[in-house]
Amino acid sequence: MELSDSQRMNLRLTAMRYGARDILLYELEPLDGSVLPPVTAGAHLDLHLPDGLIRQYSLISSLCDAQRYVVGVKRDAEGRGGSRWLHDQARVGQMLEVSLPRNHFPLSSAQTPVCLIAGGIGITPIYSMFKALQQSGRAVHLHYWSRSAEHALFHRELENAPDVTLHFASASGPQSDLQAVLAGLPGETEVYACGPSTMLDQLESSGLGERLHVERFVSAGPVMAEGAFSVVLARSGHEYVIPPGETILNVLLEAGEDVLYSCEQGVCGACEVTVLEGEPVHGDTVYSADEHTRRRSMMICCSSSASPRLLLDI
Ligand code: FES
Repeated sequence: MELSDSQRMNLRLTAMRYGARDILLYELEPLDGSVLPPVTAGAHLDLHLPDGLIRQYSLISSLCDAQRYVVGVKRDAEGRGGSRWLHDQARVGQMLEVSLPRNHFPLSSAQTPVCLIAGGIGITPIYSMFKALQQSGRAVHLHYWSRSAEHALFHRELENAPDVTLHFASASGPQSDLQAVLAGLPGETEVYACGPSTMLDQLESSGLGERLHVERFVSAGPVMAEGAFSVVLARSGHEYVIPPGETILNVLLEAGEDVLYSCEQGVCGACEVTVLEGEPVHGDTVYSADEHTRRRSMMICCSSSASPRLLLDI
């Protein structure tokens, strides 16, 4: 099933305010004063927009409270339409359907130092983490790449803050700066990063392994098996053949199985299931390859199988 009523809320858009060039901050509140579920740094929610668009946005946890959720949205003229609707057509007072917060990008509870890396609008979860880490007293340094001061969300709060390095377009170029940052990190430092795919790809190939945690909101596109494979649902014993070119999610939904999903693009994490046996091929951008290996789970909306059979904990 699509996320049920108990997993969604109707919230009123109570404020839209300027954050930085092309970035607006949206505040959402319950109508009846009810208490919102708490938000942890790194969490996101799904916004259900008109025309059936469902988009994921990071919650700026340091600005959220029991009566208010806040997300930052950059207008992407070349995007798939969600940010254009929010910037061009959303109006204060409108009701929007919103999922409960989910966090696939949580801070670990270790006491090792943290290096935070943000590119562009990727600052929204990273800023929340920065504030949370500062509050907890854990050692942290934030590196934030942006086109200019004018484009940098929270520029005023960050420009003179210790433990923050702002990187604007420079002669050496952002890529060489990123390598220099990584080269200077003490060995035990954990790295959390959100930003453009090129930046995150570069980080993932830099050998940080388990110390790297990334969040992507861009779909990689579903992975389709070339041949059919079967999926067995461990709790019911039901078995289904997934034909080439079809997703596990679609086959299960057509068969009437009760499975959760939201974005259907591998970015929200709603359809994650535990893999008990078999070898999934991951098509989501929710987790890194290392995290997939550790978690033994898969997103059934976009992932496939390298083995003839998958046994899933459904
Ligand atoms: S439904 Fe969003 S990741 Fe599968």
